[in-house]
Amino acid sequence: MDTSPEHSPVLPLGAADVGDAVALSASAHWNQNADDWRTMLALGRGWGLRARLADGTQPLVASTLVLPYGPAASASESAPPGTPGSRFAWVSMVLVRQEFRRLGLATRLLREALAYLREQGLPAVLDATPAGHDVYAREGFRDSWGFARYRRAARPAPPLLRPPAGITLRPLHDGDWPALQALDAPAFGADRTPLLRALAQRRPQAALVAAAADGRLCGHVFARDGREAGQIGPLLAADDTVALALLQAALSSLVAPSEQPGGVYVDLCDHRQALLPALQALGFEFQRPFTRMVKGSGSGSGDDDDSAAPARAPGDPAALLLVAGPELG
Ligand SMILES: CC(C)(COP(=O)(O)OP(=O)(O)OC[C@H]1O[C@@H](n2cnc3c(N)ncnc32)[C@H](O)[C@@H]1OP(=O)(O)O)[C@@H](O)C(=O)NCCC(=O)NCCS
Repeated sequence: MDTSPEHSPVLPLGAADVGDAVALSASAHWNQNADDWRTMLALGRGWGLRARLADGTQPLVASTLVLPYGPAASASESAPPGTPGSRFAWVSMVLVRQEFRRLGLATRLLREALAYLREQGLPAVLDATPAGHDVYAREGFRDSWGFARYRRAARPAPPLLRPPAGITLRPLHDGDWPALQALDAPAFGADRTPLLRALAQRRPQAALVAAAADGRLCGHVFARDGREAGQIGPLLAADDTVALALLQAALSSLVAPSEQPGGVYVDLCDHRQALLPALQALGFEFQRPFTRMVKGSGSGSGDDDDSAAPARAPGDPAALLLVAGPELG
């Protein structure tokens, strides 16, 4: 095997790379399928490294991707960091094939991505696995809050939970997008309507909102299929009962257990730990922790570089129950 991808050129990833990208993420037992990669590459920008193997093949052995969130640059230059008008980029799919690790490949692709984000004036945010944490810390990312992945094995959905009086759960309508954006952006920290639209398109029956009697939205949930397991998220609702009702409705709207034998993943925010017993009663079991990490845009302000103070991630996550997933934010 030629073990020199560290000298091969960094390649932009495009739609033609989706098959190889799925093979790379599957090699680490990650859950992304071709639809996930297609969505991320359509919304963002990816880079990869290939290695030439002894059998003549040149598989993708390392990847990194960035997803810009928030309005276009010209519309938002003055928006303060962390407000709904603000912009940042999600750093995603930092992954190196097992036999090519500790050669500096992740660092090389991460630096390429961060240089691009600096040019764009975009702060970087990501969700780190324990394995990725040290790579990011070395590049100036700092910890903010955390969440953990739980899995519910394939089994029939539980009965629906009735929402509190005056609240209705219903499918998301086309006319809901402005209200949904107004609800979601302050919690997430930026407008991510293009991503949410893509999720709704993939599984419309799992895109649900909670509406008060006056029509005001007070929660939403999206879900998608995955390579191994389905995933529910993001799920936003400040009220615990509304949040659980949305979760159970989303569970019912996913494919039959026989079609998704790996069950269902959720990524529960640590600050909503009070709802963990309810999730456990539904059959969710702990898998692994993640840390949301932040790096400034390199302009010398805000969450930049090597200050020892804890970082503040964009948004106000108090109402978030489930993140969309570490690859999406
Ligand atoms: C995390 C991962 C992407 C790192 O890729 P990599 O190409 O091996 O990383 P690098 O070679 O650039 O490592 C740079 C530095 O980070 C640190 N580092 C990387 N992997 C580490 C590990 N397993 N344990 C401790 N430190 C580690 C080291 O300081 C390393 O420098 P060194 O090798 O000179 O000591 C790779 O291990 C991987 O794909 N893991 C599984 C997927 C994953 O968890 N990705 C992170 C998603 S958030």
